[in-house]
Amino acid sequence: MTEPPEVPILDTARLRLRPITEDDAPGLHEAYGNAEAMRFWDGLPSRDLAETVLRIRRSLEVSPHWHATFAVEQRASGRFVGAVNYHERRPLYHRLVLGWLIVPNYWRQDLTLEAVSALLRHCFQALDTHRIEAEIDPANVASRGLAERLGFQREGLMRDRLWVESKPSSCLMYALLRPEWGDAGHPNG
Ligand SMILES: CC(C)(COP(=O)(O)OP(=O)(O)OC[C@H]1O[C@@H](n2cnc3c(N)ncnc32)[C@H](O)[C@@H]1OP(=O)(O)O)[C@@H](O)C(=O)NCCC(=O)NCCS
Repeated sequence: MTEPPEVPILDTARLRLRPITEDDAPGLHEAYGNAEAMRFWDGLPSRDLAETVLRIRRSLEVSPHWHATFAVEQRASGRFVGAVNYHERRPLYHRLVLGWLIVPNYWRQDLTLEAVSALLRHCFQALDTHRIEAEIDPANVASRGLAERLGFQREGLMRDRLWVESKPSSCLMYALLRPEWGDAGHPNG
């Protein structure tokens, strides 16, 4: 296998995306500890800060060949506002899956749009990805709207694709292909 790809710092107009560390746990816990923010996540909210630390630690054990999580912070203040990641990367097939989550106090400020636009550029260009996927709960209106704003196309319902809270869970498959990406617009990215 080749060297794992770098997890770089990605700057946008308002944001900095950088490799997450355990020091980000208090910021991330504002989302991971919040039942409303975690309603459509493929896992339960963290019971306490220690569990959020453990989740970050586990994510850092996985090589950036397959998975990388970026903390999203405001450039002006250094304030942690969320996290975005790629996972299930399959270099052989030039595809990966994205995840996104913003701390509730910062919702509806186009911050995810800005952060994910930068992550898309990194994945398409630096990681030589052709197909970028998002697996979204059909009831997650915010995430579906975001994916569509970014130019993702809805491809269909994947029945019982996930296992959440001890039962199977279906999700919508959204995907954006590299040749389509130019049409999506890249606000401040
Ligand atoms: C999904 C999520 C990341 C969106 O974050 P956000 O920073 O508020 O999104 P943005 O402000 O960048 O919005 C971008 C677009 O997303 C859509 N959107 C965001 N929130 C929405 C909502 N509540 N209802 C409908 N559309 C919404 C809109 O199309 C919006 O564009 P617009 O402002 O021009 O209407 C945020 O709601 C979140 O963290 N949810 C909990 C975690 C989660 O469910 N993650 C996804 C798992 S698949």
